[in-house]
Amino acid sequence: MCGIVGYIGKKDTTRFLLDGLKELEYRGYDSTGMALLNNNKIDVFKALGKLTNLVNKISNASLEQYPIGIGHTRWATHGKPTELNAHPHLGEYSYVVHNGIIENYKEIKEELQAQGVKFLSQTDTEVIVHLFESFYNKSNDSKKAFENTIEKLKGAFSILLISKADPEKIFFFKNGSPLIIAKGNDEGEVMFASSDAPLIGFAQDVVYLEDGVGGIASASNIEFLSDNYTWSTLPTSKQFAQKDGFRFFMEKEIYEQSDVVSDCMLGRIQDESINFDEINPNLIEGIKEIKLCACGTSYHAGLTSSYLFERLSKIKCNVEIASEFRYKEPLLTKDTLFIVISQSGETADTLEALKMAKNAGLKSLVICNVDNSSMTRLADYTILTRAGIEKGVASTKAFSTQTVVLWMLSLYFAKINGSISNEKLQSELKALREVPKTLIVEDKIHEKCRRLSKRYLHGHGFFFIGRDVFFPLALEGALKLKEISYLHAEGYPAGEMKHGPIALADPELFTIALMPQNLLYDKIKSNVEELSARDSTICAISPLDFDLSDDFIKTQETEHYMLEFFEMLVVLQLLSMEISIRLGNDVDMPRNLAKSVTVE
Ligand code: G6P
Repeated sequence: MCGIVGYIGKKDTTRFLLDGLKELEYRGYDSTGMALLNNNKIDVFKALGKLTNLVNKISNASLEQYPIGIGHTRWATHGKPTELNAHPHLGEYSYVVHNGIIENYKEIKEELQAQGVKFLSQTDTEVIVHLFESFYNKSNDSKKAFENTIEKLKGAFSILLISKADPEKIFFFKNGSPLIIAKGNDEGEVMFASSDAPLIGFAQDVVYLEDGVGGIASASNIEFLSDNYTWSTLPTSKQFAQKDGFRFFMEKEIYEQSDVVSDCMLGRIQDESINFDEINPNLIEGIKEIKLCACGTSYHAGLTSSYLFERLSKIKCNVEIASEFRYKEPLLTKDTLFIVISQSGETADTLEALKMAKNAGLKSLVICNVDNSSMTRLADYTILTRAGIEKGVASTKAFSTQTVVLWMLSLYFAKINGSISNEKLQSELKALREVPKTLIVEDKIHEKCRRLSKRYLHGHGFFFIGRDVFFPLALEGALKLKEISYLHAEGYPAGEMKHGPIALADPELFTIALMPQNLLYDKIKSNVEELSARDSTICAISPLDFDLSDDFIKTQETEHYMLEFFEMLVVLQLLSMEISIRLGNDVDMPRNLAKSVTVE
């Protein structure tokens, strides 16, 4: 996602900003830019695509020594990835870089346009810089103008702003997205970054800004606009910093889910409906069936959504494992919308399946985390999941964002199809908005998973069971455990256990039972009772107490089964990670597995 860096000092500012942006590359982005200030002159460079494109542009320019600069990597949310939409954004004499979303940007833009202000980009960010200048033009006081600007903005906004009106300063504010201010090791140096990595080796004293905290920095002074800030010491290891202090990338990525899902929903969940700028509403014209195709975890997201497409959009839906689909001589008809799901956009089987669908003339859509990947280049339409780079081989945040995109898509199609009442749509949107909160990892839950993990290091197997969307979730839970603990685990539809697997039941068979309150509770309860009666060891995950369980993980009571789904997802991820840690396995790089499987 977007990254921010800023610098005040005597070093080579351009170099510092470029190196800093390089450190932030792992978060994923589609354009880059920087603004460099020297007294009354601001030079700006922007480039679409990779950082090397920006480096090339800069190396062709004649550069001076700039005492101040701000830089940005952008992951498009409002407005397409274009050079014009890349940050920094310009007013008449000021520039801003921004992470987050200005929720009331349309109102502000209209007000400013009525005053004659011209806008160049399609972004929400551009209002910030014009707003600042409109206040400054009235007061001639940069601090007041910045404070007035902040007061007026709603939403998430971490920003750095520079202006010829006050050319020795960087104005900063943090709300929502992360931002750090640091005193550099050299005298008179101030640095900014949206995560630790760009600062390591250059600074020791830092403030991890809290929401609602901002200020004004110059070479001689850092002024905070409020009292709630604390100086602390920066870690010294980059590897540690990239993991934000977590033990493993997988752990970091589990904890990031709440934030990346918020990013994923930005601009897509509107007041009363779902909007996808990247697809055309006539995409489902003449479509009688949706076929989803994917591998691994992405397949589980697809399987989950097949319940939602039929239930909400009332479109017939089936899901195929890509490696099976390729050779089954599938019957492909043009009234089918072909959707592939892939974190990487490179998985060989999924890519081939997409090619087959395209050759057969089907409309195609890819749900993907990597822009410019093979699949996004090939499919007719792309919806990006905006999860940022996923490093842990065992996929976590990719799955939660894929599932959220697919849920949103089922509602988008439902609205177009008229298959959902407005009341139902509004209650689904309400639930969707609560997903980020549900994905926040509670200390209590993590600790419970850690403690329970020691009881599950042996046995002859695990059955993860669930019904409806909790069946694909059971598959995903079992896959996570297999991948990183190397223990045998199966996901199974709870109602199907009695048709075979129940023969395995004994105290050494561990059943992980997904028992949501809001979906078929009584049915799953009976299925678990059947297993308990045959002495299987039961670990129940549910908001409702369940006397027959040997172990119990209590989840929150909520109003929507999908909120239970996401909370249980986190529990399953944590449980497998803690089991893997106890077994001494390599959590991030499990044996025999690869992050991106580009061979058949
Ligand atoms: C590999 C990875 C899995 C992933 C699967 C599909 O097996 O280890 O984590 O789910 O590929 O990858 P994709 O990038 O297409 O989602």
